[in-house]
Amino acid sequence: MQNKPPKQIPSASPTQIPLWRQLQGAASLLMAVRDGQSMTAALLDVDSTLRPGVQALGFHVLRWLGRAEALRQQLAKRPPPPEADALLCVALALAWNEKDAPYSPFVLVDQAVEAAKRSEATTHQASFINGCLRRFLRERDALVSKTDANPQAVWNHPQWWIDRVRKDHPGQWQTILRANNAKAPLILRINLNKTAVAQYIRALAAIDIEASRVGEQGVILATATSVPSLPGYAEGHFSVQDAAAQLAAPLLLDALPVGGQLNILDACAAPGGKTAHLLELGNNAVTALDIDARRCERIGQNLERLGLQARIVVGDAAYPGPWWDGQLFDGILLDAPCTASGVVRRHPDVRWLRRPTDIAQLSRIQAQLLQTLWQLLKPGGAMVYCTCSVFRAEGDHQIQTFLAHHTDARLMPSPGHLLPQITAPGAVIPDNLMREHDGFYYALLQKNQEHSA
Ligand SMILES: C[S@@+](CC[C@H](N)C(=O)[O-])C[C@H]1O[C@@H](n2cnc3c(N)ncnc32)[C@H](O)[C@@H]1O
Repeated sequence: MQNKPPKQIPSASPTQIPLWRQLQGAASLLMAVRDGQSMTAALLDVDSTLRPGVQALGFHVLRWLGRAEALRQQLAKRPPPPEADALLCVALALAWNEKDAPYSPFVLVDQAVEAAKRSEATTHQASFINGCLRRFLRERDALVSKTDANPQAVWNHPQWWIDRVRKDHPGQWQTILRANNAKAPLILRINLNKTAVAQYIRALAAIDIEASRVGEQGVILATATSVPSLPGYAEGHFSVQDAAAQLAAPLLLDALPVGGQLNILDACAAPGGKTAHLLELGNNAVTALDIDARRCERIGQNLERLGLQARIVVGDAAYPGPWWDGQLFDGILLDAPCTASGVVRRHPDVRWLRRPTDIAQLSRIQAQLLQTLWQLLKPGGAMVYCTCSVFRAEGDHQIQTFLAHHTDARLMPSPGHLLPQITAPGAVIPDNLMREHDGFYYALLQKNQEHSA
């Protein structure tokens, strides 16, 4: 009888990067995240030939880090030095669940030991890593079931995060955490000025890409693919945007009068996903403001591809003096800086980077932005406040406090907390409903005509 071949055989051919090098890269990425750097920033330090492989492994590792750390504790009560610990955790995160492992666990263990031997920082730990991982292969089921008593291993989030989601959403906390560990699909927002949703889905079908509609303007691809190679990219037929984020622009514009050109502020605009949507849906004067000059450049690049124009301004929304011309706005979109706790499936590092104190700190900034920008809104105007967070302190608690202090503000019918949603494969859902989206919070606020605050 023939042996079962490994799922993927690492190759040392010059055109392919050996797996042990990618494991070293993934371990460096994990060390950077443990040091507080985002995965996106850390990936910039990775050699460009290694980057795609390291990124794919990094995503997997950060999704299953809670389980990997618990297994490491079972295998070695005292952690080895940081470099060896990172490599060990990378191997465990990739190998612990054979069904989901990108390579056969035996190949992973073999290559992790090779990675340890070939680096000065870990070579003295190579036999320790070998011993731990061989024991893991022998006793996998018993070790995994021992870690089942540890919530961080089961849910793959820090304990404080689990507690917080459970407190904020007692009925849905498990669904939220499970969704955070799933892979996020690629979702496009179709530019209706250039094509139509059904037409674009047909263009994808013509090149054998399976896709379906999600919400009013969204198209969800069955498998991820390179975005610039999709039809109509250069011509601006679509933007990449999650289905929940696609609600912002229509929510604001539907609350404003139709007819003349409106003066709209997108207060935290970079990289311009929602700015572009506001411009696609109406011929309005949009100011796209962001505090980060480099991110503002990306607004310009994105709008250029789509053939759209806004007044792009680098400035602090909390201090309008230097950038505001004194003209009140008809509408304001405040997509406030937040913990990003709703987009964990797209940014699996976020849960390991945040600290519990970040929630209160960010919610203070959000309150200040709300308070300041409210003064810049015309009586009768509308503001959309949103965050890509599931924490109530950044959502409905924030807005309840705001309403208690602003008697000239009314909360209009709004989506409120949208919890991250994934639909089981094969589930039948009407085409215009959302089957997939990130976690988000939306409040639509109307300012009274008569100022009575
Ligand atoms: C959630 S992101 C915005 C995403 C954007 N609305 C989109 O749809 O593409 C939040 C943005 O707020 C910006 N920001 C943070 N604090 C700010 C401030 N005080 N004034 C203006 N922008 C700020 C950040 O630089 C970041 O680009």
